[in-house]
Amino acid sequence: MTRKKIVAGNWKMNLDYAEGISLFSEIVNIVRDEKKGDQLAVICAPFIHLNSLAKLGGDTVKIGAQNCHQNESGAYTGETSAKMIKSVGCEYVIIGHSERRQYFAESDELLAQKTVIALQNGLTPLFCIGETLDERNNGTYFEVLKSQLTNGVFGLNAEDFAKIVIAYEPVWAIGTGLTATAEQAQEVHAFIRKEIAAKYDASVADATSILYGGSCNPKNAAELFAQADIDGGLIGGASLKSRDFADIVKTFNA
Ligand code: PGA
Repeated sequence: MTRKKIVAGNWKMNLDYAEGISLFSEIVNIVRDEKKGDQLAVICAPFIHLNSLAKLGGDTVKIGAQNCHQNESGAYTGETSAKMIKSVGCEYVIIGHSERRQYFAESDELLAQKTVIALQNGLTPLFCIGETLDERNNGTYFEVLKSQLTNGVFGLNAEDFAKIVIAYEPVWAIGTGLTATAEQAQEVHAFIRKEIAAKYDASVADATSILYGGSCNPKNAAELFAQADIDGGLIGGASLKSRDFADIVKTFNA
């Protein structure tokens, strides 16, 4: 199995510039000293931090943005393009986080455009999908996830799809302290991999990293990451503490 193990932090709209530099420096130092495996550590920071962090992280901790605009450039006041993100040394971009879907009304179709522009600019999209609590409770979550995949990323050809990372983030588990159980998460990850195999083929599915996100912390990461189809995590709250984030990265130490 060739797929990458990835632990990506999502700082969201937290930390001013000095706080961000300070936390990131701590994370780099601990990860450099303590990481033993070939897992990748990534921090997705606010735009204002990216240029500096990309210079500090080296090969130890990669940098990602949390969003990009769907167009290459132009009169879009206040927006940031994939090309700009790439130009400061970022390698990743989160696309389709549920907070963007919910608070900024980002549709699957818009997210499909963002994914394409990110790939065209050499960024790796961390593409998020996930169901709400209602959708979990009324049993429609497989349909919801399938439609997010179909409309968001299954328009890509196999070559481009092979460059993206999927993050399964049940909305009811984000920032709530409620984590999906390892069984619940594994069930969905296996479903996602099966859908990828049906759309592309088994080798593409096998090579796709699928991360779990939603109240992942140093205590529950080991059980989650031990599941056959869970290849790492997208970490919100716990990525704001250097020790916690590094401990989650270390879950993959050989
Ligand atoms: P959380 O956030 O770890 O704080 O639940 C995860 C995310 O939103 O990516």
